[in-house]
Amino acid sequence: MASTVIKNWDNKTWLSSKDYIKKFNSFLAKNIKIHSKSEILDIGCGRGKILGNLSTKLKLKNKPLGIDLINHNDKDKRIKFKKINALNFFLNNKKKFDLILIKQTIHLLKLSEIKKFLYLSKKNLTPKGKIFIFSLDTNKNEIPTFKLMKRKLSKSLARDKKILNLIIRSNIQITKKKFSYKVKISKKKYLDMIKNRYISTLLTLKKKELLEGLKEINLKYKKKIEFKDKLICIIL
Ligand SMILES: C[S@@+](CC[C@H](N)C(=O)[O-])C[C@H]1O[C@@H](n2cnc3c(N)ncnc32)[C@H](O)[C@@H]1O
Repeated sequence: MASTVIKNWDNKTWLSSKDYIKKFNSFLAKNIKIHSKSEILDIGCGRGKILGNLSTKLKLKNKPLGIDLINHNDKDKRIKFKKINALNFFLNNKKKFDLILIKQTIHLLKLSEIKKFLYLSKKNLTPKGKIFIFSLDTNKNEIPTFKLMKRKLSKSLARDKKILNLIIRSNIQITKKKFSYKVKISKKKYLDMIKNRYISTLLTLKKKELLEGLKEINLKYKKKIEFKDKLICIIL
């Protein structure tokens, strides 16, 4: 049976590369005033590399906190980590945060849970604190796909659009930004990422469907694959 958890999202992919993380954190620092005394929380932090780099970059006094459903053995040492469902985290939390980061994770919650989750996130901000939500750009997505993956991704992007609209409708003050990263990857490495089901749209595919997909990608792309990984950023 296919696994239903994302284990390989940031497992030696461009999403965990030094260059990606450096550019991503520069984007964050450009859009919010954060410094050594900031309290930072990352919801669905994966291996916590983004937070770890942020900790070094800002010389954070207090280790940033990352929460995730999965506790990876090779997670970043510069973070505090809690294995907990995002929906339960705020029930017992007493800390206020200057930045709550939710990167490519909100779509994994149910629509009915998102509103409540964001309400609780806001309650746990400092007066000037902000929530940064990153999600795949729903319009101009360039993620390399095979046919079945594309169908699944389109479906998931349509749902993401719903989520974004829900957030936009229920918040008076929002800022919308874009973050784009130029990916250059060998086809061999990208095939490995697909094999490892790096993205949630691949989690439910049958082994045979995945094998067909790998063949398709192999025929469709040249040795080097280049595309832009585009994210929408909503700041609340
Ligand atoms: C697509 S990955 C993104 C990881 C990281 N934010 C990044 O962008 O590199 C989504 C992460 O959210 C976690 N996740 C999914 N549902 C969650 C939940 N309800 N509570 C906490 N973490 C969750 C997954 O385990 C996974 O690590």
